[in-house]
Amino acid sequence: MSYKVTLIPGDGIGPEVTGAAVRILEATGLKFEWESFEAGADAYEKYHEYLPKPLLDSVERTRVALKGPVTTPIGGGFSSINVQLRKHFELFANFRPIRNLPNVPTHYPGVDLIIVRENTEGLYSGIEHEVVPGVVESLKIITEKASTRISRWAFDYARKMGRKKIHAIHKANIMKLSDGLFIRCSRNISKEYPEIAYAEHIVDNTCMQLVTNPYQYDMLLLENLYGDIVSDLCAAFVGGLGLVPGANFGHECAVFEAVHGSAPDIAGKGIANPTAVTRSGILMLRHLGENEAADRVKHAIHAIYTERLHLTKDMGGTASTSEFADAVIAKMSEQA
Ligand code: NAI
Ligand code: MG
Repeated sequence: MSYKVTLIPGDGIGPEVTGAAVRILEATGLKFEWESFEAGADAYEKYHEYLPKPLLDSVERTRVALKGPVTTPIGGGFSSINVQLRKHFELFANFRPIRNLPNVPTHYPGVDLIIVRENTEGLYSGIEHEVVPGVVESLKIITEKASTRISRWAFDYARKMGRKKIHAIHKANIMKLSDGLFIRCSRNISKEYPEIAYAEHIVDNTCMQLVTNPYQYDMLLLENLYGDIVSDLCAAFVGGLGLVPGANFGHECAVFEAVHGSAPDIAGKGIANPTAVTRSGILMLRHLGENEAADRVKHAIHAIYTERLHLTKDMGGTASTSEFADAVIAKMSEQA
């Protein structure tokens, strides 16, 4: 049997890191049929569409995708295909586990924090217009439906995984209606899960609290923008963006991608760290029910970090992206 998976290599470091991750996933011995598609500016050259229909049809069929980052132009140009993809498939739950790897120097050892970000609305609705020259308006959409749905997902996850505490993060002192609705929904849902502690923190204070003592948090539940910002902040606890995986879950499909972007500053040099996208691949294996294969990849990555012989530049090593992958693959065959 083989798994059909849509592969979106992306651009920038995307093809380099997804290429490495694909090789590692194949080294588990599982069979994959990758349906690979370009997206964003690269796709436009070929299909005159940023998110081509064949890609969407593929995800519709396979229901699971592994995705590299796609560059979004700043201050103009096409709207983020990452956001479009999440909206198109109603991938409403963005899940980002923040956990240390062995021997990665950090001021924050032993972090085990789950970020759950609402992925379909908020300011990422992208509804903006110029009212008059010099005045623009950007609408923050918060709905009871989406806020309840993401809260339910977070509490269900907490219950299933035995997590202890959820903090809903907001700015309802200022955005009384929008963030007010978001926390009202999470508060309502929390009442159905009495075994899970629930609290509400204001987002700016949360950033200070996180940097001071991340251990006071177990799971963070955030609307879209705060979730985006706080994810990168929390990535720094465990060694940076090269390490932190993510998943976008809907009721029908799931797209697995790292927290990081296309890293144009290091793209094309073969030095990007493929750990984050490979760990996203581990989340994908678990989603497919392949826990044994997931554990093998995880243990091999942990061994590579423990030894510190084949790490990429961001981790203080000299290995290239593909040398890192080779080392993980060799470790998996040693451990077999
Ligand atoms: P970024 O995450 O691409 O890079 C931030 C910093 O982290 C850079 O110094 C980069 O070199 C480093 N970094 C990121 N991933 C790394 C890796 N795997 N190994 C080693 N170092 C790594 O964020 P930035 O520069 O703000 O965004 C670049 C582009 O990526 C933008 O066009 C943005 O829109 C897009 N982006 C796409 C995402 C996606 O496809 N899901 C997510 C975030 C950003
Ligand atoms: Mg981000």
